[in-house]
Amino acid sequence: MSSSIKVVSKLLSERIQARTAMVGVVGLGYVGLPLAVEFVNAGFSVTGIDVQASKVANLNAGCSYIQDVPTEIVHQHVESGRLRATGDFSVIAGLDTVNIAVPTPLRKTKDPDMTFVVAAAEEVAKYLHPGMLIILESTTYPGTTEEVLLPMFEQGGLKVGKDFFLCFSPERIDPGNAHYQTHNIPKVVGGITPQCTELGALFYSQALDTVVPVSSTSVAEMVKLLENTFRMINIGLVNEMTMMCDRLGINIWEVIDAAATKPFGFMPFYPGPGLGGHCIPIDPFYLSWKSKQAGVEARFIDLAGQINGQMPRFVVNKVQNALNSQAKPLLGAHVHIAGVAYKREIDDLRESPALDIILLLEQKGAHVTYSDPFIPSIRLNRHSLSSVNLEEVVAVADCVIIVTDHKAFDYEFLVDNARLIVDTRNALKSYHSRKIVRL
Ligand SMILES: NC(=O)c1ccc[n+]([C@@H]2O[C@H](COP(=O)([O-])OP(=O)(O)OC[C@H]3O[C@@H](n4cnc5c(N)ncnc54)[C@H](O)[C@@H]3O)[C@@H](O)[C@H]2O)c1
Repeated sequence: MSSSIKVVSKLLSERIQARTAMVGVVGLGYVGLPLAVEFVNAGFSVTGIDVQASKVANLNAGCSYIQDVPTEIVHQHVESGRLRATGDFSVIAGLDTVNIAVPTPLRKTKDPDMTFVVAAAEEVAKYLHPGMLIILESTTYPGTTEEVLLPMFEQGGLKVGKDFFLCFSPERIDPGNAHYQTHNIPKVVGGITPQCTELGALFYSQALDTVVPVSSTSVAEMVKLLENTFRMINIGLVNEMTMMCDRLGINIWEVIDAAATKPFGFMPFYPGPGLGGHCIPIDPFYLSWKSKQAGVEARFIDLAGQINGQMPRFVVNKVQNALNSQAKPLLGAHVHIAGVAYKREIDDLRESPALDIILLLEQKGAHVTYSDPFIPSIRLNRHSLSSVNLEEVVAVADCVIIVTDHKAFDYEFLVDNARLIVDTRNALKSYHSRKIVRL
């Protein structure tokens, strides 16, 4: 290592260890805000930067808008002067580290939409200065950090591994998970150079329990895609098994529970109304896009995508058949959806299968209402719906579909009072009634 690299990295490493390094987080959403809070918990001063003025204002007012981050903590940190937010990227000039956690959605064509990452990186590049550590956390295809970000950052003449340090570290947060949160989920980090990895690992180890260094940014990018593709494909497999079991008259839930008693070589995955959230339905397509460019078809991903994509229609067919068996047509029926968030106990509607189910039901002429204690209203193609009290509609609806098994729902009341229930989550596992139709 040359002496100038040594000096730059030594200074940064000293500032990190003394916790005097000024930390920045670009993108203050589900990933960025918890991360910012962890670094303040560890004793750093953190500046969050977001283009959404309401998030900046909320944070500076000491209010949390992310369910897993308590407002009391945000309030305390803002009051202490160690956490603040801004929409002004020029603050980067005074920061030592910057984590980028902006959205990575898909285009309609299922190609990666890199506009948010590129926009954030352009701002970081403007204020890049010697001695800085930059870590991309947004889930993306392997090669992004090296092929997209690095050239942007080196354009001004600074050299990676010498003047500044660049890493990728996948975020593995699981919103709504009370046990595993940012601080105790092992953090994988890979840098462009070994020095980058070392500084990235040192940085995270100040605030997080376990750090797992890997040899490159591409390995770190691929780790996240393996994890999420693994989930997506296994859910696809179990969803396909569900369709088979439906034809064969076998209860898939009982099959999975019994299979899960095998103490080795099996891991249970559960069927559902379709994939949701900002990760599992999206991330694997980042990988398939990249692998197609390299001449390799991602066949498992494409197949699982097709199967999982059929689930909302499968649910609607179940509703239609169940109503038919009661001599009630779906056309004109009142169908009530219990839960629209993409999973239980969270307020995230992104990519939720409930939205597809509602649209399909409406296309077939059903009158649809919904209840969700976490989501007061939803915007559909041409209209909006507001959440209604489940207890008030249960008895009047022709069918209730449990799409999201929130704990707040009174399942006993539901079973006692509903005319027909289609349960896509096995929330009524312990109930036996002819009016329950399971996935
Ligand atoms: N939500 C999850 O559970 C989760 C888990 C693991 C990984 N991820 C990944 O983390 C990344 C962020 O996801 P998220 O759920 O936090 O998204 P989010 O939408 O909750 O937050 C992203 C934030 O970035 C801001 N933003 C957008 N463009 C910006 C820019 N140019 N400069 C500054 N801020 C900008 C947005 O206003 C928003 O506040 C994604 O790549 C996602 O795939 C998400």
